[in-house]
Parts: sequence; C-alpha cells; structure tokens
Amino acid sequence: MIVYFTGTGNSRYAAEYLAHRLGDRCVDLFHFIRDGVAPDLVSHRPWVFVCPTYGWQLPRVVARCIRSGRFAGCRDAYFVMTCGSDVGNPVPKNRALCAEKRLVYRGTLPVVMPENYIALFNAPRPTQARRILTAAGPVLEKAALTIAARRDFPVLKTNLLDAVKSGPVNAAFYRFQVKAKAFTVSQACIACGKCVALCPLGNIRLQGGRPIWSDRCTHCMACICGCPAKAIEYGRGSRGKPRYQCPPYEEA
Ligand SMILES: Cc1cc2nc3c(=O)[nH]c(=O)nc-3n(C[C@H](O)[C@H](O)[C@H](O)COP(=O)(O)O)c2cc1C
Ligand code: SF4
Ligand code: SF4
Repeated sequence: MIVYFTGTGNSRYAAEYLAHRLGDRCVDLFHFIRDGVAPDLVSHRPWVFVCPTYGWQLPRVVARCIRSGRFAGCRDAYFVMTCGSDVGNPVPKNRALCAEKRLVYRGTLPVVMPENYIALFNAPRPTQARRILTAAGPVLEKAALTIAARRDFPVLKTNLLDAVKSGPVNAAFYRFQVKAKAFTVSQACIACGKCVALCPLGNIRLQGGRPIWSDRCTHCMACICGCPAKAIEYGRGSRGKPRYQCPPYEEA
C-alpha cells in the first residue's frame, strides 16, 4: 500500500505514479493527521511511505502519524522522499521508525521534484517545473521496479554534512523557523475558505471572512501556494515568488 502526505502535490504525484505502476492502492494521511486519528491499515503488499523532505528528514507530522498507526500484514517498508535538492541523511531515523513498528526497512529513495518552500526559497516557474517533473519519471519508474521485485532501494550515499543537516540543523529548523506567525493576508482575499480546507493541521480558521493562523503549522506551504487569489504572503520571504502546485498525475 502506498501511504502518502503532501503539501503542494509532488508527493501525491509520486504516490499515484507508484500506485499505478504497482497496481496497488494509495492512502492519503491528510485526514488522519488533521483529525488526529491513528491509521489502522492492512496490506499484503509492501508499505511505501511517500512524503516531502522537511529539514532533511521525514516531516515530523508524518513520522508522528506513522508512529501512532497500525500497519498490519506485509512487514516490508520503503520510504520515498520527494525533495527540492537533497534529503541529507534521514536513514537512521527511518530505520528506527521501522524498528518501532516492527517493519523491515527496505531503504530510502530521494526523488528530486520542484521546490515548494517559498517561505525561504524560490519555486520554479511552470516550464522549469515541468522539466523537473519529467526528470523525476525515470527515478519513480526504477523505484516501482525495485519495489515490485522486493529488492532494497540502493544504499543512500551520505557524508558528515548530511548527518549535521538531518541532525542539529533539523532540530534548529523546527525550533526557530517552523512558525505560522509570519503569514499575512492581503485585500485580494475573496473569503473562499480554500486555505482552511487545505491545511492538514487544521491550523487556519476564517474570522470575518479572513484567515487566522494558529500555532500548529508545519510549513507545508499548502495554504500560501493553494490560495486562488494569491492573497497570502509569508513575511517578505514569499513576495514576488511563483506559487507552486504540482499538476495531477495522469496515467499514460
Ligand atoms: C518546510 C519545508 C522544508 C523543506 N526542506 C527540504 C529539505 O531539507 N531538502 C530538500 O531538498 N527540499 C526541502 N523542501 C522541499 C520539498 O521537500 C519538496 O519541494 C517536496 O517535493 C514538496 O512535496 P509536496 O509537494 O508533496 O509537499 C522543503 C519544503 C518545505 C515546505
Ligand atoms: S484561500 Fe486565499 S482567498 Fe481564499 S480565504 Fe484563504 S486567503 Fe482568502
Ligand atoms: S498553516 Fe499553511 S503552511 Fe501551515 S500547516 Fe497549514 S496549510 Fe501548511
């Protein structure tokens, strides 16, 4: 079973690609996370966890959700981490998570997809995004073949810097950067409520037709990138930047 989390659609695209190629089903963690419900799932085919990379690790909300859940049946677990550039070294934590859940760790595969972290970086423009998405195709294809053959993913090559990024830098990132305080909304807001519906943490409510952010944000970028009026900014960091949303996966 392919189990995924996404903010702006890359990981859904990757999950649906794998589900299609493996003839398996896809489960979105959105409602489990939003409603605080532990997943209780059964699959007789390998577990494939697909999600974005946040600070060179699995997003904490995803690790927490997996930790809380029951994954019965097949014991093999693969991690497919979509990323803008690199995943650092999330292997020790992914292995430990498998050990906790009595799953057999079968590897972590980075898949470079368009960058979505417009609070800090730039998202690609549509033509470049399409190019990056096309380049991800063969990587996903190889992943599907490896999972179908029940082989391990290739060993991730890492160095000391990767360990630092996924270790102390990840901790500092969550402590100092992952906050909703800098979100603002402009007069362009049309009070449609889409940001409320998109937030996987239930962190946004409308007051007088305008969004208000609470303090459970995980910086997934779904609200700012999904606003149809482009009315949301993240401090000065997001100004003038393209909003990114992955197009839906279409079966060839
Ligand atoms: C909070 C946050 C942290 C991120 N950290 C990393 C990172 O450490 N390394 C990286 O290559 N990309 C990083 N990215 C980029 C995303 O992992 C990447 O664009 C991913 O494919 C987005 O997936 P989604 O569309 O399924 O949400 C980060 C994005 C966000 C929003
Ligand atoms: S999605 Fe955008 S336009 Fe709609 S309520 Fe939220 S901020 Fe306003
Ligand atoms: S407030 Fe926005 S960025 Fe934060 S978790 Fe919700 S949708 Fe994601």
